Formats: sequence, C-alpha cells, structure tokens
Amino acid sequence: MNNIKDLENLNQKKVLLRLDLNVPLRSGFITDETRIDKIVPIIKFLIEKKSKIIIISHVGRPKGEASKMLSLKPICKNLEKKLKKKIKLLNDNIFTLKKEDLFKTHQDQIIFLENIRFYKEEEQNDASFAKHLASLGDLYVNDAFSCSHRSHASVSKITEFLPSYAGLQLETEINALKKVTTEIKKPITCIIGGSKILTKISIIKNLIPKFNNIIIVGGMANNIIKYMGHNIGKSIKEVNCDSAIKEIFKTSKNHSCEIIFPEDVLVGKSMNDNSQVKELNDIEDNDLILDIGPKTVQKIKDIVKTSKTVLWNGPAGYFENPNFASGSHEIAKAIVKKNKENTVYSVIGGGDTIALINQLDVIQEFNFVSTAGGAFLEYLEGRELPGIKALNQNV
Ligand code: 3PG
Repeated sequence: MNNIKDLENLNQKKVLLRLDLNVPLRSGFITDETRIDKIVPIIKFLIEKKSKIIIISHVGRPKGEASKMLSLKPICKNLEKKLKKKIKLLNDNIFTLKKEDLFKTHQDQIIFLENIRFYKEEEQNDASFAKHLASLGDLYVNDAFSCSHRSHASVSKITEFLPSYAGLQLETEINALKKVTTEIKKPITCIIGGSKILTKISIIKNLIPKFNNIIIVGGMANNIIKYMGHNIGKSIKEVNCDSAIKEIFKTSKNHSCEIIFPEDVLVGKSMNDNSQVKELNDIEDNDLILDIGPKTVQKIKDIVKTSKTVLWNGPAGYFENPNFASGSHEIAKAIVKKNKENTVYSVIGGGDTIALINQLDVIQEFNFVSTAGGAFLEYLEGRELPGIKALNQNV
C-alpha cells in the first residue's frame, strides 16, 4: 500500500480525499467531533503541499436519497472553523461535475462534495459512478479506515481508475491495530454493543476462537434475549438472525470462549422516558429495552476485573438519554480503573463509543482509541477490508 506522505510532488494536484465524517448528529448539531479532529492532519498536510482537495464523505444512511437532515453542511462548517479556511460545499449533482470546472479561482483549495450516500450508486459499488468520481481528480487518498469495511464506490471501486494512496490516519489506525492483534495478552474480553445489529452479528462467530469472553450488549443483545424465548416488546431488533445466534452458541461450545448477554435490562415506554429495571421475564409488549440492568453491569465489571485485554465497540444502551447511560458509563469506569492500575490493555472503537467516553471525559484513559466500529471488528476478525485490499492492489 502506498502512502500519500511518500509522494514527492503534490503541487496543484487534485486529490480526491475519502474521509469518514460520519459523526453523531442531533437535529443538525454535531454531538461528537472526534472523527473530524482526527482528519485535520491529512488536510493540513495537503494544504501545505499546495494540493487542491476534493473531500468525499458520507454521514448516516440516506439509502440513495438526498435528505436535508443528512447534509454534510454542519460538518463542513465545523471543519472550516478548525482549519480557519473557506471550504466550498458543492450541492450539484455529481454526474454533472467536470474536473475543469472545480477550482475556478486561485483561492479555492478545498471542495466538499455533498453526502456521497445520496447516490444509490455509492453503496452499489457502481463502476461508472466510481469512474466519474475518479475523473474529477488526479489521485485518490483513503483516510477513512472506519468505513474501509464497505465495498462502496468511493471506498474500493474508485481505486481501479486512479493512482491511490493511504492517508495518515488510516495508516496510524492499521499500525495500532496490527500491534494490538500481535501482542495481545489473555484473558481477552471483547464487548460488542451499539445499534448496527446486522453488521456485527455475523462477525461474532469468527471472533469466538480468538477471545475468552464476548459480551453482547446494545441492540444485538435484544435479538439474543428474543432467541432465548423472552418478550422484547418494541425494542430494536433485526429479522432473520436466529441461525447466526444458534451458530454463535454452538461455536462457543467448541472453544474456551464464554458468551455473555444481559440477565436484566432497563426499559422505558419511549426513548425519552425514565428507566425501570426489569427481569427478562417481566418485559411487556409496550416496553423498549434501552440499557442493561444492574445485575448485568456487575457481571461485566467482574469480567473486566480479571481481563488483561479489553476491546470494546458499541454502547450498552441509549446513552444519549442519561436515564439509559448507566450501563455504558459503568463499563467505561471499570476499564478506566484497570487502566489506571496498569493491569489491562484497552482498545475502544466506533463513533458512538467515542462519543460516550467523551461524555465522561476519559478518552485519554484508554490505550488506543480507533475511530472505527464495524471496520475495527472486521479487522479483529482477520478479514482484509475491501478499502484496504483496493489500496494494496493499486501499487
Ligand atoms: C461507521 O460509522 O462505522 C462508518 O461510517 C460506516 O457506517 P455504516 O455502518 O453506515 O456503513
């Protein structure tokens, strides 16, 4: 894989820069800026080299439809402030753009394309879309490790049409994760939560041989609770997961890996409600499971206490409402305590997990913080991520 920092002459070169600015947004406001902070170095590097920069990113999952709620405008404004530099957000249909129209004045140095997922061709990994995107620049840089597990046009296909390079943050993340996976100390505990059930459930089976404990919390745990025969009311769930769950438990029996899932939960009648502790048998039709209960928290704390490595992706509950943040906060505090005693190596990953630990102001208390969630888990699984493979093939 070639790295952009090794390229001699970038003067006036039009660089298509894929970033992952998929930051948490609430009513158009950014609730956690970490992913933006992490890509400031690559932009400063390219500015210094006098490149012309075309930023490509997505936010959310608009499923191929333009949506005002998922515009990159607030993110573009935030980056402008951080760089103290004007950035042009282009709303034009990408298919109508031509390379020669892009940097009209000498002062124009950074252009932001609107949310790339407004185009269905992006997630379809469409070759003609990728080729058109590629025609806008002289070279391509992937500094979006956190979405490199997606076979999308601006992540993998585009490298077929342009000289392609790894960015600074992408390289940092890969090197750190390489170190983690080669120097890992047992017992290893992996905590997996969050709401992206489908992305993660198929990964767990492959993680089982590598870890001693896999703790499943968040949205995915609802599917397990349901699989165990309990009512989960109106809680988020994914359909057709039973065979994946069956495989998880079957595989764990053949390895020394314990699968831990909630024994009790916190429920509400809506996302804004107060919390109520419930045993799994007591969950009602109009309940929403929004966090883990106190017995589960205690069990997780006991496991963390005896672990030498803890890897964590995905909150335990709907931490945006403080009534449902205690599960995630307690897990974070348990890991931080071990870190302070120097008795654990801890890695956390993912946009929401970072937002959560920033609520507690403890980001410095983990050994490594990856911007990646799904990509982090797939990397741990040992898979070659499509975005990385594409860079490796473009040498
Ligand atoms: C992430 O936040 O993990 C990446 O931006 C990928 O987002 P996705 O799961 O919607 O593809």
